[in-house]
Formats: sequence, structure tokens, C-alpha cells
Amino acid sequence: MTLEAAKNKLTEYGQEHVLKYYDELNADEKAELLEQIEATDMSILSAALNPDSLPKKGAISPIPCMDLDEIAQNEAEYRKLGIDAIKAGKVAAVLLAGGMGTRLGSDNPKGMYNVGITRELYIFECLINNMMDVVKEAGEYFHLFIMTSDKNNDSTINFLKEKKYFGYKEEYIHFFKQEMAAATDYEGKIYLESKSHMATSPNGNGGWFISLMRAGLLELVHELGIEWFNIFAVDNVCQRIADPVFIGATIAKKCTVGSKVVRKNAPDEKVGVMCLEDGRPSIVEYYELTDELMNAKTDKGEPAYNFGVILNYLFEINELERIVKEELPLHIVEKKIPYIDESGALIKPEKPNGYKFENLVLDMIHQMSSCLPFEVVREREFAPIKNATGVDSVESARELLKKNGVVL
Ligand code: UTP
Repeated sequence: MTLEAAKNKLTEYGQEHVLKYYDELNADEKAELLEQIEATDMSILSAALNPDSLPKKGAISPIPCMDLDEIAQNEAEYRKLGIDAIKAGKVAAVLLAGGMGTRLGSDNPKGMYNVGITRELYIFECLINNMMDVVKEAGEYFHLFIMTSDKNNDSTINFLKEKKYFGYKEEYIHFFKQEMAAATDYEGKIYLESKSHMATSPNGNGGWFISLMRAGLLELVHELGIEWFNIFAVDNVCQRIADPVFIGATIAKKCTVGSKVVRKNAPDEKVGVMCLEDGRPSIVEYYELTDELMNAKTDKGEPAYNFGVILNYLFEINELERIVKEELPLHIVEKKIPYIDESGALIKPEKPNGYKFENLVLDMIHQMSSCLPFEVVREREFAPIKNATGVDSVESARELLKKNGVVL
């Protein structure tokens, strides 16, 4: 992009200050900044001025869930269907590992965190061990796509290479990078993290399919005959990945997406819950759940919105290709954004000082035509590591790993 074009774009979006130090930069830095200006979507930033004006939810009603009893009754049938799909190469896993993991407070990618006590046991290693259980059962490897971001791509790849993918076959592993979004102050002005760089953060986990497509991987997916993507978060060390029973149940019920859920442990637990929104599958975030919905009961007297999502979904790829043209809602999240002050010194704020802009995978559920909420046992499959201590922490995950027989 030329300097002239950059000036025009910045003027259009009221971001002229981004070029404040341009004349002080060397040729490479100038080129980098112009490239970044060209690549950045600035049309979303005005939403910072009015974060409450983002689209509101439609009419919410309960969605039926396949509970543990129903799963147990049909387990053999579902397992066979799932194993057959894996053996036929129709299932791949997608690890969403582009997040910053700021709450955990480690500078490394979250997957590099060592949860071991008497030995090394990394988060990535836990996930791959869980995948290997299925590989052994099916007698077949399945492909793993790993999404990283500019902030953690090289360290993620180098680490996994160095650890020889914890025993997973290298030819079944593919990396791709997600996009970044500019981070702004409360007036929607982009922060500079250096004189030649706008502050950016990964644009949320909702862009995973578009990013995978942009990386040119969809051709490979089609060539390999993959029909389903099991996407999962990096931080849940106990979750079952490419779980044959889950895959089989979603196929048997002819749903285009399956969503693993756990029974909430309290009405106000901070998890998104499955529901119907205007008659289509959806997820209400915990902060959107009104008291009325929180206390609503089914005919059987059970809580009507009782199944929380754990970020483990099985998407049918045909349907993903259909919805990819639809826009996802924008989420604006308060964040601590490092920036340079008037003198050019880098400030790392202690408190949130602005916004990051994200699309979320949970909004993709609402775009899908049919969804199977599939219950899993919380104590077996839900050990997210968000924080260093307390709720959803390294400590709580270690407890659950031990309960599930993992030696730490
Ligand atoms: P979180 O919501 O826990 O976000 O991500 P985070 O950025 O990793 O952590 P905090 O909030 O800064 O502490 C849930 C999952 O989505 C992935 C994460 O890597 C994690 O697996 N994710 C999140 C992405 O892949 N990209 C993103 O932009 C955000």
C-alpha cells in the first residue's frame, strides 16, 4: 500500500494518528506499517463507541439434549458409527490454539504449559494423549489442524516439532494462522504497540474456518475425503477428542453440528448454555442469561437451561461451506492493551484500557440448521485451564487429571 493510500484509509476511519511516527521509521519499518494498515479491517472499530448497540438475542426457548442415559442405551451403535467414520478418514480434529491465554499469565502459548508435578506433562501432550486413545481404538490416525496466531505461531510449531508431536504422526498435523484485529482505546482509536506497529490481538476463535480456507487447506480436506471437523479448545486437558460415541450420535441424529455439554453445577455457573433462539440452535452466554431464564423449569421440573457448552463441537463441513458467507456478530471485549505513550515508551497497563474485537465460534452454532447437544460427564471431560489458581485453573485441572488416572 502506498503512503497516500494509507493516509486515505486512516482518514476515512479517523485513525490518522497511526502514522504519527512514520517519518522516524527506517524503510523496512515503513513498509511493515503500510502493510499492516492495508491488512487491517478498520470498519469494525466504530463499534467501540457504542458497544451496547451490538445485535441482541432473539426469542430463547429450551433445546432437547441427548443425556447420559440415552447415550448409554445406544452407546454400542453410536460407537460403531463413529469408529467407522474415523476409519474411513471422514473425521479430522481442529485445535483452536490462537488465543492469548492472558488469564493464565504465561508468555508462552497455553499448550506449552507444564501441568506435571513429578514429571513434565504439557497441555499439548495431554490433548495428544487423549487423541491417541482414539487412534488405538480405531487402528487409524486422524488429521489434526492446529490454529495459531501471529503472536504464538512460531513458538507453537517449534515446541511441537522439538517434542516430536508427542508421538503423533507428523504427516497428520497441519498448522494455519488466524487473522488479527486492531485493539483500540475506549474511543475506538487504535493503540500503537510500537512506533511502527498497531496493537493487535487475535480476532477470536470464530474465524477458524475462514482462516483454514484462506490457508488453502480446504482443498486438502476435500482430497482426503474429510466430512467432519471436531473443533476443540486448547485448555481443556481432559476432553475426549474425536470421541467415537459423540461422532456416531451426531451422525445417527442427522445433525449438522454436535455440541458436547455438561450439566451446570449451579444456576449461575459462568458457562454458555444451549438453547433455541428464534427456533434455531444457539448458545446464551452466562452474562446474557436473565434471572427468568436461569430459573425456568421444564415440564419435568428440571432447569430448562441446564447444559453448558465446553467448546468441543463436531461440524459438518458441507454446512460450514454454506454458512461461511454469512457474517458473524462482533463481540467487543475489554482488555489490557500494551501501548506506547507520548514519549514512545511502552506501557503495560495493570487494568483494562480498551477493547479487542472478536468473532466467536459459539455464534456459528446459530447458523447451523440442526444441533445435537450431547451430555458428557463433567468429572471426566471438563477441566479447563483459564487461570493459574482457583476456579478453572491449573490446580482444579490437576485434581481432575488425577481422578482420571493421569500420573502427574
Ligand atoms: P479463551 O476464551 O479462553 O481466550 O479461548 P484466550 O485468549 O485463550 O484466553 P484469555 O481470555 O486471554 O485468558 C478459548 C479457546 O479459543 C482459542 C483459545 O486458544 C482457546 O483454545 N482462541 C481464542 C483462539 O484460537 N483464537 C482467539 O482469538 C481466541
